[in-house]
Amino acid sequence: MSRNCRLHAAAKHEELTTIVVFGASGDLAKKKTYPALFHLFQQGLLPRRTRIIGYARTKMTPEEFNKRVTSFFKATDDPKDVTAFLKICEYVSGKYDVDEDFKGLRKEIDTNEQLMHKRESDERVHIYYLALPPSVFVSVGTQIRRNVYDGSCTNRVVIEKPFGHDLESSRALSKSIGALFAEDEIYRIDHYLGKEMVKNILALRFANVFYEAVWDRRHIANVQITFKEPFGTEGRGGYFDEFGIIRDVMQNHLLQVLSIVAMHPPKSLRSEDIRDRKTEVLRRILPIQLEDTLLGQYVGTRDSSRPGYKDDETVPKSSITPTYAQCVLHVDNDRWRGVPWVIKAGKALDEAKMIIRIQFKDMVNALFPNLARNELILQVSPKESVTIKTIVKEPGLSTNLAMSELDLSYHKRYQDLKIPDAYATLILDVLNGDHSNFVRSDELDEAWRIFTPLLHQIEKEEVVPLPYEYGSTGPKGADEFPTERAGYKPT
Ligand code: NDP
Ligand code: BG6
Repeated sequence: MSRNCRLHAAAKHEELTTIVVFGASGDLAKKKTYPALFHLFQQGLLPRRTRIIGYARTKMTPEEFNKRVTSFFKATDDPKDVTAFLKICEYVSGKYDVDEDFKGLRKEIDTNEQLMHKRESDERVHIYYLALPPSVFVSVGTQIRRNVYDGSCTNRVVIEKPFGHDLESSRALSKSIGALFAEDEIYRIDHYLGKEMVKNILALRFANVFYEAVWDRRHIANVQITFKEPFGTEGRGGYFDEFGIIRDVMQNHLLQVLSIVAMHPPKSLRSEDIRDRKTEVLRRILPIQLEDTLLGQYVGTRDSSRPGYKDDETVPKSSITPTYAQCVLHVDNDRWRGVPWVIKAGKALDEAKMIIRIQFKDMVNALFPNLARNELILQVSPKESVTIKTIVKEPGLSTNLAMSELDLSYHKRYQDLKIPDAYATLILDVLNGDHSNFVRSDELDEAWRIFTPLLHQIEKEEVVPLPYEYGSTGPKGADEFPTERAGYKPT
């Protein structure tokens, strides 16, 4: 592929770059942020002059900190690379609301820039990565703005989900953050936008002549976007119970994927053109109705080998928080009117899988009777693949037809390729100043508009989710739901 066809450019290497990871003592920093930064370092994709400062309240010696942030590195990582990476890292302990601590952080950044041989002509970038619970976003943002922010350089603030709890709280958070930073300084991470197959949707749709030609209600019967996890909330029940599966996965990850599958072609690959198109299609999605929804909550296995959701000590015994949901959405525009979109997500199910299944309509005037439907299946995880379910003549002397598959399995086709973690991809985008794979505030607003009435109704009416056994395919009715509610025909 020629260079100018790439979906994004490599990082520029000349900027003097400081990355501050707030909440560096936490789970996300350890599992995702530092491994992703290390991956970029190994690949030579961090700017040549970069310092990474971890910041949190916990007191840690450099050794303790180094041990912690490398604990999720791979056993196969070259120790020399790890040592070199740790040389550009340091840790500063401080509170999230104390001026002096943030002034100290600013001093540290300035000192580091001098040590990195800052020149007058240098372009400088400060990235503030908030790997923190949302309850401290505003306090930390206020402190950054007051005591650390440097108007003479480029500032970028990375925020993790959840962005609010419903439309009202999300707007309040956006307003507070918006008063501190300009929208083009804010990068709201939805890590699904950094996944290889999700990024591939743009390429598939807009770089191949045949997909876009059939990408509408005349040819597509229904779409299913499915997220399944084979484990429960193990250890995260306290967080999860406040949110539930709809807020945890559907309102963000699945809806983001839906918007890329459903959007009109963007005018260009510029981030604002892409985000305009995503927002435009979200605006045409009608709020979800309770009667178009199936809710479930997992219970322990009959043999007690796996616990139920409410067996988690951090979950109230009376909890009616859904750990499983299926909903039908409708996109009210000329391209999609009449096509049901089923999104489903569940924890403690039978397998790990994230797929997008696009089912085409029956052949009209078919020469052959009773044909099964074609499908395009994009598997996002665990193993990336693109599959087209295609009818062929059964090979040999037979004249029968058979359903077969055009199968592009990435692990077979690109054997030497290591698919980067979504976080590495997204941090690279932040370094490049590319917003395409981050959520804009108006997109977020639309996402909450679609789900908030449903969430409020579920809470107000105390809708009790249906039980399903840990490791099963979901509650009663789950398997039939796409057929009954969206006309899906199993192929
Ligand atoms: P943690 O609970 O591990 O918190 C991160 C750090 O923040 C902690 O080490 C702690 O540092 C500080 N902290 C924790 N609770 C509070 C509090 N109540 N008030 C002030 N500081 C606090 O969170 P995660 O790392 O798991 O998540 C960070 C963000 O990323 C959240 O917004 C989360 O929703 C999001 N996220 C996390 C994922 C994950 O896999 N963990 C996945 C996707 C998103 P100290 O006490 O040292 O200051
Ligand atoms: C997170 C959710 O955003 O995404 C988790 O909070 C979920 O509950 C996770 O497990 C799934 O991400 P991935 O990349 O493992 O599919």
